Amino acid sequence: MKFSFSKIGIICLALLIASVSAIAVAQTQYPNLGQKELVIKRGFTKEALSCIECHAKKMPGVMEGWKSSRMSHAGVSCYDCHVVAKNSPMASQCEGVKGSNTYISPMVSSKTCSRCHPQEVEQFLKSGHAKLASAAVMDPKKGGGKLIKLQFHYEGAAFMDKKSYKWNEGTPKGATGMDRAPRSSGCQMCHGTTVELGPDNKPINETWPGGVGTRYPDGSIGTCTVCHERHTFSKADARKPEACGACHLGPDHPNIEIFMESKHGQQFLTAGDEWEFDSPPDAWEPGDYTAPTCAVCHMSGIGELATTHNVQERLKWDLMHTKSVVRSGDRGDGVKGEQNMKKVCANCHGPSHIKSQRDTLDYSVALYNKYWDGAAKMKADLKAKGLLGKDPWKDGFQELMYYLWHHTGRRARQGAAMNAPDYAHWHGFFQMFQVYQDMEAIYNYRIKNKKIEDLSTVMSSAPY
Ligand code: HEC
Ligand code: HEC
Ligand code: HEC
Ligand code: HEC
Ligand code: HEC
Ligand code: HEC
Ligand code: HEC
Ligand code: HEC
Repeated sequence: MKFSFSKIGIICLALLIASVSAIAVAQTQYPNLGQKELVIKRGFTKEALSCIECHAKKMPGVMEGWKSSRMSHAGVSCYDCHVVAKNSPMASQCEGVKGSNTYISPMVSSKTCSRCHPQEVEQFLKSGHAKLASAAVMDPKKGGGKLIKLQFHYEGAAFMDKKSYKWNEGTPKGATGMDRAPRSSGCQMCHGTTVELGPDNKPINETWPGGVGTRYPDGSIGTCTVCHERHTFSKADARKPEACGACHLGPDHPNIEIFMESKHGQQFLTAGDEWEFDSPPDAWEPGDYTAPTCAVCHMSGIGELATTHNVQERLKWDLMHTKSVVRSGDRGDGVKGEQNMKKVCANCHGPSHIKSQRDTLDYSVALYNKYWDGAAKMKADLKAKGLLGKDPWKDGFQELMYYLWHHTGRRARQGAAMNAPDYAHWHGFFQMFQVYQDMEAIYNYRIKNKKIEDLSTVMSSAPY
């Protein structure tokens, strides 16, 4: 071997000098370099290891998920998320820690995550996914408890048993498991509710686990695992449309169906397997994918927009309630929202294309609002003449009016917003027009005969 040691030494020295001077250059060019401190600690404490070791035997499924998560590699374990203070309202003890000074809880809210992800949690808490989501199904002030009555009385066993509870409370006192079933199997699994606790601080009355806006006994709000499934907590998974489709589907908000029908969904279905879903935050850009998923348009960093956990930030209209208005107050800022959404499109579409899409959305909203105003006028007239049934769920006119905005009207508006012609038209505007005609017929009948028709004219499952 001719290669002498001293030669290698000289090369090493040269490299050392080169890299030292490179750092010096970098520091003058980037004065902030060095301000970010990254302290990486490896290994688990003895206490943390005990949870892992025993649960590996007792709950191998949980362990598999956690092991494949990024956080497990960064040293975040069961202990960090599930151990709570002794005086926490959620403190209990599992078999493994009984009698010790360690207290745990199966409930983990956004507050726990905020210790290490404060920014994501702060944005999330401002969004419709937090407080507003559970208020929709449990706030007695919302519609004077109308929705609570729907969930417990009409859909629950109280209806069959002709029992009556006081409806202006979150969960009516004395309600049975059968009364709660429609709510615990449905509404609250998407929206969330207030977790009720038994004497051992464990959840009772089927109030946990719950949906995105779950309200925890310590006053914290929000379940991050609706999008970041436990215990893998992957951001790649949350970027896929399936993460949203668990709740955003069905006749009243068919967002996943709308997406799959759109050209964007078509590209996801045909080429999505080859897309890169695991790029770092704010560096997941067109090229990693060729068409947007839900996350790209509503949450992810793209172009000059930064990643956000506040899904309101890119919305102009409120497309879920009776009359569509430009968003304001706790529903966001519609003027800014429109600008932001246009910035998303501009990464892949030219100005003519974007203008056409935005105009189509605005005119679709205007048309829907025209229908709604017409319906509201008829309703006011019937009410003034004493021709409106007291119980909206037994009154044909009011039942149809519900379908007008909640099913057909949402499909028309949201189909138009997210580029799905079949939902905008056949499930949307076409059915809206039919429902409206039926409402007119009932209206005319009542005005002419000065009475409410004897039987409900609405089939319970229609118009789907
Ligand atoms: C990054 C935080 C985090 C880590 C780490 C973590 N969990 Fe969880 N865990 C959660 C969250 C969030 C939930 C859902 C809680 C909720 O809905 O209120 C949960 C739920 C649970 C539940 C109740 C749900 C069920 O299916 O019964 C168990 C049991 C559980 N975790 C065990 C573990 C074990 C064992 C470990 C360690 C291997 C672990 N967790 C690590 C956050 C974490
Ligand atoms: C020696 C075994 C063992 C050890 C150590 C242990 N656990 Fe458990 N854990 C269990 C078993 C068994 C269960 C299910 C029965 C029960 O809840 O007692 C359980 C249940 C749980 C639950 C679910 C409770 C519920 O109500 O659904 C959580 C969360 C949990 N453990 C977290 C932890 C944490 C965090 C640690 C470490 C501080 C830990 N465990 C240590 C055996 C253990
Ligand atoms: C003790 C600190 C700590 C807590 C508590 C914590 N995390 Fe993390 N989390 C981290 C660290 C550190 C990383 C970065 C790991 C990496 O990329 O190497 C991370 C990464 C993540 C990621 C990105 C994973 C990916 O695929 O890149 C998600 C999502 C996440 N955490 C969600 C949560 C949620 C939800 C909770 C609450 C249930 C939570 N975290 C609680 C420290 C924490
Ligand atoms: C666990 C169910 C659930 C999942 C999963 C979910 N959402 Fe939602 N989302 C809801 C509920 C419930 C509402 C209605 C909130 C309310 O009552 O104001 C909502 C509202 C929204 C809104 C309107 C927000 C507002 O303030 O009016 C947007 C946009 C949205 N979601 C997007 C998404 C996207 C994108 C995903 C996936 C990355 C997703 N959601 C995942 C349940 C969910
Ligand atoms: C499959 C999940 C799911 C179920 C089940 C569900 N919702 Fe929703 N709900 C949503 C989503 C998603 C939205 C947002 C719709 C949109 O943006 O158009 C929503 C919107 C709402 C809204 C309008 C938002 C607001 O804050 O005013 C109300 C009210 C509502 N739901 C009440 C209920 C009630 C009551 C039940 C049960 C009788 C229920 N939901 C069942 C997912 C669900
Ligand atoms: C509506 C779905 C949804 C919910 C709910 C949600 N996330 Fe995320 N999260 C995402 C998406 C999508 C990404 C990927 C964003 C991107 O493209 O960079 C993400 C990324 C992350 C990351 C990686 C770093 C980053 O900011 O991009 C962390 C950490 C994280 N989320 C924590 C949380 C915590 C903590 C909560 C609960 C407050 C939460 N998430 C709730 C959808 C969600
Ligand atoms: C090409 C971008 C794009 C994609 C992809 C996309 N959306 Fe949207 N979404 C929009 C636009 C644009 C609006 C209307 C915004 C406005 O009001 O200006 C909207 C509106 C919504 C709303 C209505 C909020 C309300 O007011 O009721 C929800 C909910 C929603 N999207 C969820 C989803 C879900 C879930 C997916 C995936 C299954 C998805 N979106 C995919 C662009 C997109
Ligand atoms: C990551 C790139 C990307 C983004 C961001 C994006 N699109 Fe697209 N869009 C595409 C691709 C690719 C197609 C499919 C073209 C084809 O297959 O013919 C498409 C097709 C469409 C179509 C069907 C009509 C046509 O051109 O064939 C509409 C409508 C549309 N996009 C609207 C929007 C709107 C509105 C936004 C913003 C809210 C948006 N897109 C954001 C990539 C994108």
